[in-house]
Amino acid sequence: EDNRRESLMIVSGYAAKFFHESLLDTDEGQSIGLSYFRERGFTNETIKKFELGYSPDQWEAFSSSAIRNGYQEEFLVESGLSVKRDNGTLYDRYRGRVMFPIHSFTGRVIAFGGRTLKTDKAVPKYVNSPESEIYHKSNILYGLYFAKKSIRDEDNCYLVEGYADVLSVSQAGIENVVASSGTSLTVEQIKLISRFTKNITILYDGDAAGIKASLRGLDMILEQGLNVKVVSFPDGHDPDSYVRKVGTAAFKKHIEENRKDFILYKTTLLLKDAAGDPIKRADVIREVVESIAKIPDSIKASVFIKECSHIMQIDERALLSELNKMRMAKA
Ligand code: UTP
Ligand code: MN
Ligand code: MN
Ligand code: MN
Ligand code: MN
Repeated sequence: EDNRRESLMIVSGYAAKFFHESLLDTDEGQSIGLSYFRERGFTNETIKKFELGYSPDQWEAFSSSAIRNGYQEEFLVESGLSVKRDNGTLYDRYRGRVMFPIHSFTGRVIAFGGRTLKTDKAVPKYVNSPESEIYHKSNILYGLYFAKKSIRDEDNCYLVEGYADVLSVSQAGIENVVASSGTSLTVEQIKLISRFTKNITILYDGDAAGIKASLRGLDMILEQGLNVKVVSFPDGHDPDSYVRKVGTAAFKKHIEENRKDFILYKTTLLLKDAAGDPIKRADVIREVVESIAKIPDSIKASVFIKECSHIMQIDERALLSELNKMRMAKA
């Protein structure tokens, strides 16, 4: 109910402030957390804007401070900030991690992602808040609160995978950027974006997982009636690492020069493995038409059929009949 939700948001806001102050005002925070962010190239402005923080490397630093300040155990546990031991005492979920608060649409802190500073593969890289009454992972886009005005102004939303990608891209002056934060993109997230723009540009990681997710994501976006483009990055890079490698100007240039509509993106990608083999080429064509068949607007679909026919050097009528077959099969 509303009171519980409000209590959860208040406790989350307190935690964000606690972690932010730990980062900026404590020796441990400065020497470990702040220097980590500095090494990653995040400016003070970015750290302030996104309320980045640091959780002290102790078992109860946060929980005991929250209790001392009168926050109720129930909400500390429900928010996932604290975990209850068998003996009833609380310990901190986030210890020795740099903290990324997740803001609601209206700017309230509702959850956290905490990144380890260890390179040990046995330690999970990110620990995230559990689902709660205020945090439904599938309905949230990291960064949306800060991006929404720019998404509307630019009439486009850049979609990235991770927290750091949002920070780096935004810091590079491209503020219309949000992340699905590891979860595969959901219909709810696309609907959220569609309140601000009908145009999405996918900037996923340049690895096998990122490519696979981009193909799945573009079909879902088309199915919701939105327009989608894709920019790929060299293997081993994500938008964050790439902007740091090449700098802001070259990054923007890369986006402009490699922005492909979904037809060109998909054909280029799939044709790499099909080189010259006519059977494989036919499979590629079918895969692309499958994406086109997801577009609800049939006029738009026919424009893409034309483009596909041009790129693949194949008769438009053959594509149209394939499209109609797929549509019939769906109906
Ligand atoms: P990545 O593995 O690409 O991490 O996961 P990243 O964002 O590039 O992280 P850095 O640059 O090493 O800091 C993309 C996103 O998936 C989620 C996070 O939201 C992450 O930003 N994720 C990843 C998790 O929730 N848990 C994990 O263990 C890993
Ligand atoms: Mn709910
Ligand atoms: Mn990745
Ligand atoms: Mn990264
Ligand atoms: Mn990544």
